Amino acid sequence: MAGEYQTVYADWKRAPEAFWRTAAGAIDWYRIGEAVFDADADVYGRWFPGWETNTCHNCIDRHVEAGNGDRTAIIYDSPVTGTKRRITYREAQGEIATLAAVLRAKGVEKGDRVIIYMPMIPEAVFAMLAVARLGAIHSVVFGGFAAQELATRIDDCGARIVISASCGIEPGRVVAYKPLLDHAIELCAHPPQTCLIFQRPQLAAEMVDGRDIDLASAVAAAKARRETAACVAVAATDPAYILYTSGTTGQPKGVVRDTGGHMVALAWSMRAIYGMEAGEVFWSASDIGWVVGHSYIVYGPLLAGCTTVIFEGKPVGTPDAGTFWRVIQEHDVKVLFTAPTALRAIRRDDPEGAHVARYDLSQFRGLYLAGERADPETIKWAERLLHVPVIDHWWQTETGWAIAANPAGIERLPIKHGSPTVPMPGYEVTVLDHEGHAVAPGTLGNIVVRLPLPPGCLVTFWNADARFRTACLEEFPGYYKTADAGTIDEDGYLFIMARTDDIINCAGHRLSTGGMEEVVARHPAVAECAVIGIHDTLKGQVPCGFLVLKAGVTQDLSVIRREVIELVREEIGPVAAFKSALVVERLPKTRSGKILRGTMQKIADGLPWKMPATIDDPAILDEITAVLHAEEAHHK
Ligand code: COA
Ligand code: AMP
Repeated sequence: MAGEYQTVYADWKRAPEAFWRTAAGAIDWYRIGEAVFDADADVYGRWFPGWETNTCHNCIDRHVEAGNGDRTAIIYDSPVTGTKRRITYREAQGEIATLAAVLRAKGVEKGDRVIIYMPMIPEAVFAMLAVARLGAIHSVVFGGFAAQELATRIDDCGARIVISASCGIEPGRVVAYKPLLDHAIELCAHPPQTCLIFQRPQLAAEMVDGRDIDLASAVAAAKARRETAACVAVAATDPAYILYTSGTTGQPKGVVRDTGGHMVALAWSMRAIYGMEAGEVFWSASDIGWVVGHSYIVYGPLLAGCTTVIFEGKPVGTPDAGTFWRVIQEHDVKVLFTAPTALRAIRRDDPEGAHVARYDLSQFRGLYLAGERADPETIKWAERLLHVPVIDHWWQTETGWAIAANPAGIERLPIKHGSPTVPMPGYEVTVLDHEGHAVAPGTLGNIVVRLPLPPGCLVTFWNADARFRTACLEEFPGYYKTADAGTIDEDGYLFIMARTDDIINCAGHRLSTGGMEEVVARHPAVAECAVIGIHDTLKGQVPCGFLVLKAGVTQDLSVIRREVIELVREEIGPVAAFKSALVVERLPKTRSGKILRGTMQKIADGLPWKMPATIDDPAILDEITAVLHAEEAHHK
């Protein structure tokens, strides 16, 4: 007899539109359209054409209207500032409706873009939902990015308003956001007219006259005048947000998420994948600057009427490796979602789980991992200590929710370590060879998803339909290319092995080595360079740059290396974690001039490698090996 998962998956496959129409019942609509899917619209078709809704209404107002206003919407737990705060749905509604009124007074209307550059504080969530309330489009930029990255995003989406805060707090240092924002605005071709700044007590930002507005004072004044803004109806196909992610060049791609499909998919996932019920506490230990934060700190939990935790801290050092377990016990967290790297950091500090033993985790139901490959050793360690299922699931910024998972709310399937389990309804996943032919089970190939992508996935890149087609749809006609390589076994379980492009995953953060190469190449002493991701026991991968210097450069090599490292930190941000720049005589290339990054990576990781048949000069690989060995010896 087919299991429950098989039945649900088969239901979807037999009648996808009926499946998503049923799922849409979890959402409030102002207008219900006739069709569920329009195959002819835009790049690959659009979900819920003619339907109308509002995201903020569905996340907040309808729960208050249903009599659940006193339920906690947000728990803010900030070990780095020693603050804890609980915010009910009713209080959240008041804050958001007022902030929306402030934004509206500054001219924000349906369809306008608003950049949000904020740390992990409740005001960041209010900002996202206030923008959504007006039917405007937010683009959240992660706090670890530097001015240039912020400027690129402001310009690309054409934001007229930025919402930011005076600072973020990293262990041991206060990160002044405002100077970064000011610098970004100097770099912008089209500077925003208004910046709303939330002043934090840890650091006051200097305000620019005529442009900067104190967010808390503006909200207080609007409250005194009893100004609020109502939810604005938008088309389900209108963009909810743009989230920039690393692409195959330094220019980030603006993933566009629609409004209706986004909500339908997330609401479905909260129950089916995470097994959550309204009123329960869901914690995603990520950052609102990443897709995990969008989907599972903000939208998913609030759509489902759950309580979400905004955690401003790290898995270790704030104050110790027991912080996660403390938060789970104290706030009665049922499900935690984090990146494997966070678990590796905890395991490194507390291998025997002494901290786990200090807390009562009896109500905790499951730990979900994503963002990078979850190594089986870490999963087994967590299973042994936590006594809950540890579930790896696989997705991307582009998809917005899991492509493959173990759906606790449908059926808990047997776990195979190293596999994120099976495709979710909506995703028909196949592995193809380079000619586009399906490969046999267990054979490595390109993982692709048959079009159309399900609700909740990207609909295009912002202002760049052609780039979306070229990057994602052209290589395998009829499919979306995930740019992940892997296998599917005889039981239909997926195994995600590597990226097929230049993306690396460093501490759960997605970075483009191509983007880093563009920055490194700007150093005046550098003739050419290659950046590769090399294995790291904590962060999964870390970038490492190889520099070939221009002839006649006489500067001290250690100075050049330091400057290059500083340049990447300045241009991309500390999140790039670019701390290794090695000077080499030459780079290994094919006879047609392509740098052999894959072979360099294998050498750096100490993996077996074959001499590429097309290599121009094999001796260069010995030179690279010698430089890497010298560097290793230096660090021992
Ligand atoms: N604002 C400013 N700077 C930030 C930042 C932010 N929001 N987030 C990170 N940084 C800085 C860090 O302070 C660090 O700076 P440093 O080079 O001066 O030390 C740098 O960016 C690199 O950060 P990170 O890669 O996160 O390393 P870390 O050593 O600070 O922490 C972990 C390591 C594993 C504890 C941490 O990366 C972690 O918790 N990862 C989980 C990732 C995650 O949640 N991903 C989301 C997908 S689920
Ligand atoms: P991001 O867009 O930041 O979510 O990164 C997406 C990429 O992270 C994917 O394309 C994969 O390469 C990787 N990734 C995410 N989740 C997993 C997982 N569970 N297993 C392996 N790789 C993953």
